[in-house]
Amino acid sequence: MNWFVKTFSGSIGRKLLMALTGLFLCTFLVIHLIGNLQLLKTDGGEAFNHYAKFMTSNPLIKTVSYLLYTSILAHAVFALLLTIANRKARPQGYTVVNNQSSWSSRNMGILGTIVLAFIVFHMKDFWAEYHFEDLPMYTLQDGTVVKDLYLEVMNAFKSGIYVALYVVCMGAIGFHLWHGFESGFQTLGLNHKKYTPFIKTTGKVFSVAISIAFAIIPLTVYFFRQ
Ligand code: HEM
Repeated sequence: MNWFVKTFSGSIGRKLLMALTGLFLCTFLVIHLIGNLQLLKTDGGEAFNHYAKFMTSNPLIKTVSYLLYTSILAHAVFALLLTIANRKARPQGYTVVNNQSSWSSRNMGILGTIVLAFIVFHMKDFWAEYHFEDLPMYTLQDGTVVKDLYLEVMNAFKSGIYVALYVVCMGAIGFHLWHGFESGFQTLGLNHKKYTPFIKTTGKVFSVAISIAFAIIPLTVYFFRQ
């Protein structure tokens, strides 16, 4: 236990934890996206409500959810601790901007803060509503009666301001991943002449694809499903 505390209380250990939690959150995004794409089906909510029921009742997924919440918190807290430590080490801040670094890499703090604010706002809306509020019910084809989360999402995306906010936040997530994906692999030491260019390209493609695919959902609901 002692080695664990020692490893993860130092700045290298904290960076390592940020990389591990960050890459785990990337995996979550892919699964969440696949589930959310069910919202685009014109089946009255059957596929999406089925998916929501599975995600909230399967014991294995419920356990992984706790790992997800812990990862979000740990990623944000370690980011804050590292930023404070870096500021202390360089009290005057940066006076020279490294032209080689991308805009994303220089703004990870603000981008991460926007993403965290989005997650809090987003979970308050959909997650908390689904778990703690009385919602209209939906009967699945197999006869199970579930809360109609599909209807909740459709109603939320009726608002143009809400949709615009979502699209802006998806942009922030894209920029955060633009630097974060490759940085995570670099921290894990996966730096190799042959594989690094591949990881970098995958990171760029991943960040653009994820943000566009998520943004398409509220936009499609707003323009084509009302
Ligand atoms: C169009 C975009 C999105 C839609 C329509 C959407 C929809 C939903 C819905 C309906 C839920 C509640 C049901 C559930 O737990 O699966 C949920 C939960 C959640 N969403 Fe999203 N989401 C979107 C994007 C995102 C993004 C980009 C993130 C992260 C940056 C995110 C993070 C979360 C988290 C952490 C939860 C709680 C998951 C859990 O309890 O297991 N969502 N989302």
